Amino acid sequence: MKVLITGGTGYIGSHVVVELLEQGHEVEIIDNLINSKITVLDQIEKITGKKPTFHQVDLLDQPALEEVLTNTHFDLVMHFAGLKSVAESVEQPLKYYSNNITGTINLLSVMQKTEVYNFIFSSSATVYGDQGTGECVETMPTGTGITNPYGKTKYMIEEILKDLAVANPNFNIVALRYFNPIGNHSSGLIGEDPNGIPNNLMPYIMKVAKGELKELSIFGNDYDTDDGTCLRDFIHVVDLAKGHLAAINGLKPGFTTYNLGTGMPTSVLQMVNAFEKISGKSLPHKFAERRPGDLAILYANPSKAKTELNWQTELTVEDAIKDTLTFLAQPQNNP
Ligand SMILES: NC(=O)c1ccc[n+]([C@@H]2O[C@H](COP(=O)([O-])OP(=O)(O)OC[C@H]3O[C@@H](n4cnc5c(N)ncnc54)[C@H](O)[C@@H]3O)[C@@H](O)[C@H]2O)c1
Repeated sequence: MKVLITGGTGYIGSHVVVELLEQGHEVEIIDNLINSKITVLDQIEKITGKKPTFHQVDLLDQPALEEVLTNTHFDLVMHFAGLKSVAESVEQPLKYYSNNITGTINLLSVMQKTEVYNFIFSSSATVYGDQGTGECVETMPTGTGITNPYGKTKYMIEEILKDLAVANPNFNIVALRYFNPIGNHSSGLIGEDPNGIPNNLMPYIMKVAKGELKELSIFGNDYDTDDGTCLRDFIHVVDLAKGHLAAINGLKPGFTTYNLGTGMPTSVLQMVNAFEKISGKSLPHKFAERRPGDLAILYANPSKAKTELNWQTELTVEDAIKDTLTFLAQPQNNP
């Protein structure tokens, strides 16, 4: 297939590009490089022996987008491009609504115009809002109690996709609801290393391990869980990437959602302990107040993806930690 990947130089997108190239698909990438580096293309080439065509295009620039989709007819678009910082979205909601929602509408408008109807969207477990405590199933209601604009953009985009699938029955749309992606390709050549203070646990752990941040704060140790810290569903990004290839088989008329998670929650403290054990180094950490909006337990019921897509996770949290250490050991990631 000829696949267009928006956000393909980003963390998750680059891992999906690798899997697609390794399965013999043709890949073109659109990214404005606001949160990724062009050198990712060289790393992808080192892993796969192939360099995907790259277009430095902003999704807000609809004419430029249209040029890319007019010059090549794609069979499928996978849409990863978006801003994803929860904290920044609270401070700058208009930036998030504009980039994520207008960007997606531009993309879908151009797809409709150029008659490209297969679409896979990066959604998030955040759409379950305050319903999502414990195990999340796709049939649960979405959209209530989402505490930040970033999460609301995911919910709103899902609603837009539903409406589009009704209005134009040519569209085959899948929204993949990710749980907590961690780790990186086992080569250590691609991965996630955000600038500034990370929002997510693993990038934070990585910065503490590198000595760039003093210590990790664990928010809350009095939750109703075995060790008192929150439970999350950490999924290895390579498993997640493979879920996208499996989702190609799930494309059918209308709008369909799948959870991509392991179904096996791990506590924040278990994660810290596992990191210390595998790295052989202590990771400075302290307990802090609970954060408003954090749910005690959140994990996927991944049965639908297993039954309908024949996909399930194969890698463990320990694999993800080992791969993270390989990534950190690369000279460019640990100057
Ligand atoms: N990482 C997670 O924990 C997580 C969880 C759930 C959902 N998601 C979603 O998955 C997708 C990919 O996430 P990621 O972790 O790889 O993020 P990322 O920031 O590494 O990748 C996103 C890419 O999109 C690009 N981009 C952003 N706005 C753009 C625009 N207007 N035009 C062109 N390119 C643009 C960025 O430069 C970046 O390369 C996002 O939509 C994110 O919301 C991520």
